[in-house]
Amino acid sequence: MSSLSRIAVIGATGSLGKPVVQELVRAGFFVRAIARDPVKAQSLLVKEVEVIKGDLQDVDSLERAFYEMDAVYLNLTTPSRKAAFYPERDGTKNVIQAAQAADLQHISKISGLGTRKVNETKWWQHQQKFEAEQAIIESGIPYTIFQPTFFMETLLMLIRGKSLTLIGDPANPFYWIAGEDYGKQVVAALKSEQAHNKRYAIQGLEPLTMKEAALRFIQVYDPTLKVSSIPLALVKMLGLFSDQMQLVSEAIGVLSKTKDEFVSRETWNELGQPQMKIEDFAQVMRGSGAR
Ligand SMILES: NC(=O)c1ccc[n+]([C@@H]2O[C@H](COP(=O)([O-])OP(=O)(O)OC[C@H]3O[C@@H](n4cnc5c(N)ncnc54)[C@H](OP(=O)(O)O)[C@@H]3O)[C@@H](O)[C@H]2O)c1
Repeated sequence: MSSLSRIAVIGATGSLGKPVVQELVRAGFFVRAIARDPVKAQSLLVKEVEVIKGDLQDVDSLERAFYEMDAVYLNLTTPSRKAAFYPERDGTKNVIQAAQAADLQHISKISGLGTRKVNETKWWQHQQKFEAEQAIIESGIPYTIFQPTFFMETLLMLIRGKSLTLIGDPANPFYWIAGEDYGKQVVAALKSEQAHNKRYAIQGLEPLTMKEAALRFIQVYDPTLKVSSIPLALVKMLGLFSDQMQLVSEAIGVLSKTKDEFVSRETWNELGQPQMKIEDFAQVMRGSGAR
């Protein structure tokens, strides 16, 4: 049993930060979100979460925000290759500095399953996640790193109007997981010293291609939606004018060549097995009115 009970979260407002925060609160942890815009963050988070101002680029603000905390959980993303500051790589290094000064007992972070194949993919996103992982491992602070495959939450982001639009329609299957199941595994890791100094693969129950996942999702979520796809070449072209489109086209290009082998047996044994299939996730999202 671990003695961690007060958890600071950076990136709590993110699409994958919210389900983790929800499960931490449900499990009885005290959660403090560190956010650049506390007013906005408080409006997006449940009332049990304390919100404090802090910025990954400002080590002093992080150290102040870590006051009386036991641990920090990081949900960060790096949206542009051209950015001068990479929240995942550079922000994590600043977090480590502040965590050492504040004497935190544990640091955990969402990363990606792709970092295991960084030598193969040679993708800058995997590289900077890998560097963040290495910085955490070398920090001397007990850590847990989570390496997920695709989240079911991604399907919600592909809905525009009455269409769920796939990009490039990759043919390879992925072990999709729901944020809620992942949040429960984070809770289990923070409660157990056995999970200290480990990297866990995070995968769901069954392998599904994007199209299979999308078709099964809309059947429960909203059967009036249509599943369509746009060619990867078109998104690549749009990427010339938009960082977001460039990142999406790079991600789909890399993922199309990735085989999502099942490597989560140890995770399931130690942190619990996920419960939700695509239909269960769709039912929950339908009930919450999420879009
Ligand atoms: N989607 C998937 O299927 C999948 C699969 C595997 C791994 N992942 C990884 O999961 C991670 C999280 O994804 P997400 O969708 O939750 O990301 P997201 O929605 O973009 O959230 C990022 C969070 O970081 C915060 N942030 C950014 N810069 C900050 C700064 N300077 N100081 C403080 N906070 C800052 C943002 O806060 P603000 O509210 O201030 O903007 C936001 O809450 C990513 O690394 C992604 O690669 C995703």
